[in-house]
Amino acid sequence: MHLLALAPGETVALETHPVLTLSQIVRRIQQIPPMPDVVLKVLELSENPETSVKQLVEVIRLDQGITFKVLRLCNSAHYGLPRKVSSLEKALVFLGNNTLVNFILTSYAVDVCQAATLGYGLEAGELWRHGVASALAAEIIAERVEKSEPGLLFTGALLHDVGKLILNEFVVAEAERIHAHVEKERCSFLDAEKAVLGFTHAEVGAQVAAHWNLPPVLVNCILHHHDPERTREDHDEVATVHLANTLALMNGYGIGSEGQTYHFEPASLTRLGLSVEILLSMAPALHQRFNLAADLIRLNAFA
Ligand SMILES: [Fe+2]
Ligand SMILES: [Fe+2]
Repeated sequence: MHLLALAPGETVALETHPVLTLSQIVRRIQQIPPMPDVVLKVLELSENPETSVKQLVEVIRLDQGITFKVLRLCNSAHYGLPRKVSSLEKALVFLGNNTLVNFILTSYAVDVCQAATLGYGLEAGELWRHGVASALAAEIIAERVEKSEPGLLFTGALLHDVGKLILNEFVVAEAERIHAHVEKERCSFLDAEKAVLGFTHAEVGAQVAAHWNLPPVLVNCILHHHDPERTREDHDEVATVHLANTLALMNGYGIGSEGQTYHFEPASLTRLGLSVEILLSMAPALHQRFNLAADLIRLNAFA
C-alpha cells in the first residue's frame, strides 16, 4: 500500500498494484537462450557417480568452445605441467570429473551472469562473483554435512540469483517505489519486489531454471533460497543453498541490496546439524577456493 497526497495534511491509502504480469515474465524468459545441451548433459552425467571419463569426453568433445577452454586451462601456467595436454581424455584424468564439471558450469555462468544488475546494487561481474562464492560455499557445506550431492548443490547455488537478470530492468524502473516500500514496511528487498513488481527474483529464477530444463531439485533450490522452510521437498538441498547464500553475503561476495535487508533462517542450520560457529569457521576455506576459482577462470579467459 502507498499513500497519495491530496492536499496539505490530507492523504488517501491506495492499494499497490504489481507492475508485472506473468505473461510479461514468461515472454522475457523465453528470450533467454536455452542452456547449451552440452552443459545440461555434463550436469546430468555429473550426478551419476558411475560416470566414466569416456562418457564425459564423448559429450564435451561435441562443443569446440568448451574443449578449447578445458585444454587451455590444463596448459595454463597455473598448473605448470612439463608436457602439453593435448587430448580431452588426458585433461579429464588430470583435472578429475568434479573440477572439470564445476569449471564448465562456472565458465557458463560467466557468460550468463556477467552483466551488471544495478537495480540490485551489483556492478558488472558482481552477480557472477556472488554466484561462484555461493556455489563454493554450498560445496563446502555439502562436504561437511555429507547429506547431498556437492556437484548438484554447486549448480543450485551458482544460479540461485539468476532471476535478477530478468527483473533488473523492472527493479531499476521502480527503484523509488521498492526502496520506499522497504523503508515503510521495514521489510526485505525480496518482499518489496513481490509487493511492487508482483514477483520476486527467486520466483522468476525458478522459471528460468525450468526453461533451462534443470532438474526439479534445482528449481526448488532457486525458488526457496530466501524461504527454505517453505519448500515441500528437497529440504536439505534448499537449506544448503540458503546457508551458502548467507555465507557468501557474510563474507562480502556481491552484497548489493539483497545483503542489506537479508533475512536469515536459522532453521536451516538446525536441519543440517550445523551452528553459526561452524558456518563462520568455513570462511577461510571459502576465500581460498574462491581465489583459486577466480584465478583459473581469469587465466583461462586471458591466457
Ligand atoms: Fe536472492
Ligand atoms: Fe544471493
